[in-house]
Amino acid sequence: MKFDVFNSVLRLWSHNVKNLHFLIQHENGILKVDDSFYSKFRNLLNKNKMNTISSSNVTPPPEVQGMKTLDRKAFSTIVKIPGIKVPKSEISAAQKAWKSCLFKMKGIKPIAELGNNDPHRETHHLILLDPGKIGSDKLAQEQKEILQNYGLNLDSPTLYEVVLHYENWSVSDIIKAVLPSDAENVTSYSQVGHIAHLNLRTESLPYKTIIGEVLIDKISTIKTVVNKLNAIDNTYRNFQMELLAGEDNYVTRTKEHQCTFELDFSKVYWNSRLSTEHQRVTEYIPHHSVVYDVFAGIGPFSVPLAKRKRCHVFTNDLNPHSFEYLNKNLKLNKVDLSLVKTFNMDGRDFIKTVFKEDLVERIKEYAKLNNENALYQDACKSFVLMNLPAIAVEFLNCEPEAKRIKCS
Ligand SMILES: C[S@@+](CC[C@H](N)C(=O)[O-])C[C@H]1O[C@@H](n2cnc3c(N)ncnc32)[C@H](O)[C@@H]1O
Repeated sequence: MKFDVFNSVLRLWSHNVKNLHFLIQHENGILKVDDSFYSKFRNLLNKNKMNTISSSNVTPPPEVQGMKTLDRKAFSTIVKIPGIKVPKSEISAAQKAWKSCLFKMKGIKPIAELGNNDPHRETHHLILLDPGKIGSDKLAQEQKEILQNYGLNLDSPTLYEVVLHYENWSVSDIIKAVLPSDAENVTSYSQVGHIAHLNLRTESLPYKTIIGEVLIDKISTIKTVVNKLNAIDNTYRNFQMELLAGEDNYVTRTKEHQCTFELDFSKVYWNSRLSTEHQRVTEYIPHHSVVYDVFAGIGPFSVPLAKRKRCHVFTNDLNPHSFEYLNKNLKLNKVDLSLVKTFNMDGRDFIKTVFKEDLVERIKEYAKLNNENALYQDACKSFVLMNLPAIAVEFLNCEPEAKRIKCS
């Protein structure tokens, strides 16, 4: 019997940042399928895993602009915040009604005691309101009326002095205040375990140390802050990085879809923003399938597929460090190792040898059953994952004879 493996079997998944598609090998060549799958993937990809940094409606003192060495004391200042006196008995109702326009800042309570000299100190509390919301269109008419009934002049509200320190300001408040006014603010970062990873623009580079220190000060889970130095265009898809602040330690652990991954961020490829994509592909592949993960990295497809779907996984990466962590992560997640074979070789060799040999063996087994239908069903449950953006397709012409595998 002559069986053309590639005609019916091979579903290739290839990821290219702008162009995600399934490739199905077809009689006349590779058929690119960018149908509903693509749009589903794209929607999911957009919900990426960047951490955004939000800022408040008040600002640190203007003198901090251009600061190159972090001087935390220079962020102390007094700001004037609109406030309203509310009888103590009505505080909880007022707090509820104005929830969306209360003054929110770390370490500052929006409901405060009135000053010692205030004649209403015994009977009233002070409610501080967000200066960005008062008088703005964001305030619902109903809320405006209630505020006015309490005597607040929306156009010219009574202002109360509030003392703010470095501890009260958000990451964004501080960085925005330090950067020159024409520089774009740093609005997001990625985090892998204890490592925050930035991609700073040229104009922000003179302030990189402050940016790193502020992230460590403000976000308790961050212990190391790095800036990316080059584009990810080397073979192993990792990048050169510069330590901006914190510990010089790049070995970390991160969780993805109930699996734990250990990695050395300076030596292997890892991108937390692919989390949704990893999950989508893992969910798409049926239980007990056979999976050939040609560019496996540290195992974000292979580990959950073997652990949760009990797939037979042949998993490979050229980078010896990725290979080391791939093996570690299989053990860390208590994967049944009888289901998995790991390889540290070039993807072309992997396809020419491991993939081809295994597929031929399985096809021979099924051929013995002389049941074309069973053969087809099993073959259709074989998946080749080729997650190497831009060039994965080039690995397909590695072995012309692999396109015709004869089973007798
Ligand atoms: C974009 S990463 C994807 C890793 C993993 N699938 C993930 O989603 O995190 C591509 C991986 O391919 C590996 N790689 C690059 N060239 C290779 C080759 N010729 N053969 C095998 N692996 C290769 C890199 O070391 C890297 O781990």
